[in-house]
Amino acid sequence: MNDTLILAIESSCDETSAAVIKNGSEVLSNIVASQIKSHMRFGGVVPEVASRHHVEQITQIIEAALETAGIEMADVDAVSVTEGPGLVGSLLIGVSAAKALAYAHNKPLIATNHIAGHIYANQLLGPIHFPLLALVVSGGHTELIYMPADGVFEIVGETRDDAAGEAYDKIGRVLGLPYPGGKVLDEMAHNGEDTYNFPRAMINEDNFDFSFSGLKSAVINAIHNARQKGDDLDPENVAASFQAAVVDVLVAKTIRAAKEKDIKQLLLAGGVAANKGLRKALSEAVATELPNVELTIPPLYLCGDNAAMIGAAGYTQYKAKEFASLSLNARPGLMLEN
Ligand code: KG4
Ligand code: ZN
Repeated sequence: MNDTLILAIESSCDETSAAVIKNGSEVLSNIVASQIKSHMRFGGVVPEVASRHHVEQITQIIEAALETAGIEMADVDAVSVTEGPGLVGSLLIGVSAAKALAYAHNKPLIATNHIAGHIYANQLLGPIHFPLLALVVSGGHTELIYMPADGVFEIVGETRDDAAGEAYDKIGRVLGLPYPGGKVLDEMAHNGEDTYNFPRAMINEDNFDFSFSGLKSAVINAIHNARQKGDDLDPENVAASFQAAVVDVLVAKTIRAAKEKDIKQLLLAGGVAANKGLRKALSEAVATELPNVELTIPPLYLCGDNAAMIGAAGYTQYKAKEFASLSLNARPGLMLEN
């Protein structure tokens, strides 16, 4: 069988990225231009600024992805692009670029879901085995997704309010940390102790949903109270206490869902999958409680947003001949379940 080369494009938030993926599993190139510096002074992603950066970057990033892979558009079998979810103005830049390339070079177009991309990032490390469960934790999402087979998604649990990454970033802001706060809080947590014992929301409830907004408020209140009273506040202990509460709930619910679903593999995915505390706690829990389940945790460069994951997910759609028309539009609220 001939190799399948997919040119993938991702622009759902503040990373402009293009990649070339061979047979859904081998990364020939994965170019990521981050806009973090431009959004830092605003303390969060400004949609208009993000769109403008995408417009400026996208052509060069696609050219760099092809050049690094050592191929030309003629060698590409299909163009895969993030259709949603994400910021509409950001998504539109990637979707327009992908449509233009597919039309000009007469290639099939594949419309890929960003969350599916995060899950399929794990396929770039080795074959994935179904049935599997994926814990997707990012700035916009916190979901437990069951996959009985390739390309089939069933949401078994999700956050009812804030995503885990969102809570990290908001607490980071209150502590005066640079945006995005997740990575810095993770570092701080490792130098502190869980002295605050913040609430573990919904940990004992008989479902697989999450809630982080109560925890976020509890942490922010503790910070404000200490400041008002002039008390000494140890930011590292605050970070460690917050992280312990997040990790405890994520791990407990994931392990319970995994046991109920009787899976072969457990995948961690999304930007918060870079969290050292979560990686360690989940590894330990799987080793003791699910010794027959294969746990896969992506390397850091595949946790955050990147186009390689969109190429990996797009390959499943390519095999199923699930192609999009040139009337494809961005879908900011796109859901995952089929
Ligand atoms: O997947 P991603 O790049 O973008 C979205 O699709 O949302 O995730 C970004 C999120 C941000 O909220 C960021 O603070 C968080 O991932 N993050 C972390 C860590 N590294 C990135 N959160 C906790 N610990 C980390 N080490
Ligand atoms: Zn993402």
